[in-house]
Amino acid sequence: MSERETWATRAGFILAAVGSAVGLGNIWQFPFKTAQFGGSSFLLVYLVAVLGIGLPAILAEFVIGRKAKLNTIDAFEELGYRNWRIVGVLGLATGFWILSYYSVVGGWVLRYIAGSVTGAYFADPAAYFGQISMGVDALALHAVFMALVIGIVALGIEDGIEKATKLMVPSIIVILIALAVWAFTLPGASEGYTYFLSPNFGALAANFGEIVPFAVGQAFFSLSLGMGAMITYASYIDGDESLFGDSLTIVVLNTFVGVLAGLVVLPLLFAQGIDPNTSGAGAVFVSVATAFAELPAGNALGFFFFVVVLIAALSSAISLLEVVVSWAVDNTSYSRPVIATGLGGVIFALGIPSAWDTAWLTWFDTLAYQLLLPTSVLGILIFVGWVYGRPALAELLKGSTANEGLGLTWLWTARTVVIAGVLGTLLLGFQTLFVDGAIVPPF
Ligand code: PHE
Repeated sequence: MSERETWATRAGFILAAVGSAVGLGNIWQFPFKTAQFGGSSFLLVYLVAVLGIGLPAILAEFVIGRKAKLNTIDAFEELGYRNWRIVGVLGLATGFWILSYYSVVGGWVLRYIAGSVTGAYFADPAAYFGQISMGVDALALHAVFMALVIGIVALGIEDGIEKATKLMVPSIIVILIALAVWAFTLPGASEGYTYFLSPNFGALAANFGEIVPFAVGQAFFSLSLGMGAMITYASYIDGDESLFGDSLTIVVLNTFVGVLAGLVVLPLLFAQGIDPNTSGAGAVFVSVATAFAELPAGNALGFFFFVVVLIAALSSAISLLEVVVSWAVDNTSYSRPVIATGLGGVIFALGIPSAWDTAWLTWFDTLAYQLLLPTSVLGILIFVGWVYGRPALAELLKGSTANEGLGLTWLWTARTVVIAGVLGTLLLGFQTLFVDGAIVPPF
């Protein structure tokens, strides 16, 4: 077997991980959920979830990946625990599952970029979404999006993913900042800021049981945890760098982009008198498109907005495909391009129902959020905290100036608070799945 690939630079690894984290979750979900769940009081809960649960969990994945330097399944065997490969299998399956519909949404975004230029959605944004989100149209664009993802992953770690994300992540931040500045100039923008950022403890208290698991789930999804993505990316680290430092950078940048997206979207909606309190897979597209349709420079603004969403979605999707590709590269003698195309094709096929009918997309998403993700993260935490234990601590401290005390704090936090938090989230998800019946596929 040829030598395993690595990142060329430390910044390359960090940017790739940020690219994975920053995605549809930040721009498509986060601003709306924050607004809906009580603004800055939700933000507070989310920050606690990200720092208290997400950060220890991302460290756990990094430790496994960097120590084993193998794909998310074989890593467990490499560390001496063959049976725990089942956790890797679950993560890989979750990644497969999520990419199948993530790519369908990526296809919608492609369509909206074109639609902004031509003004196709301006006349009737709701009807437009209905037309392009299902059936042959959606299927075709799902294929185009998947082809882009395959193309980047086929080029490999350094020449594909690293080069691409080095360009993509700064572009996302620059364009979003420019859009946020523009949004600031809109009449009515301040109403949007108030809605987004002013605390509403009443709303928080009233929905606490729903908000906390959502905040935790969002922290996992947004940080790309529980899908083998961070294990895989860390497996390409060459040498030892401070995992604490890297994780903190990634977590902070990821949260920053979410807030930035809110500072674009909410003033925009309020300026046009559109209610952000909508739900459903397409609501965000429809409401944002409605705002662009009514603005003087709507074509250009819509174009840049959807380009940002596309870049963010692409840099996340490549990390999902890389999880499976990495496994096949480590275990077969096929070339990377052949593997990427083959597995990408299978994922495309799995996404066909979601492209055909958004009811399927919602079903795939609910199962991922409520069941697959938390179960997979739980497996990783139990493994790192209670099974692997001390060697994990040693690996974490390698290349770091942090002292043993900080490491122990991490280990015990992961073992107790974090596991409890994930378990709670999982149990609350069971309510949705089994009592409300969300587990039943929409045949
Ligand atoms: N973190 C990405 C987002 O917020 C989604 C994602 C999950 C990407 C898992 C890769 C792996 O959109």
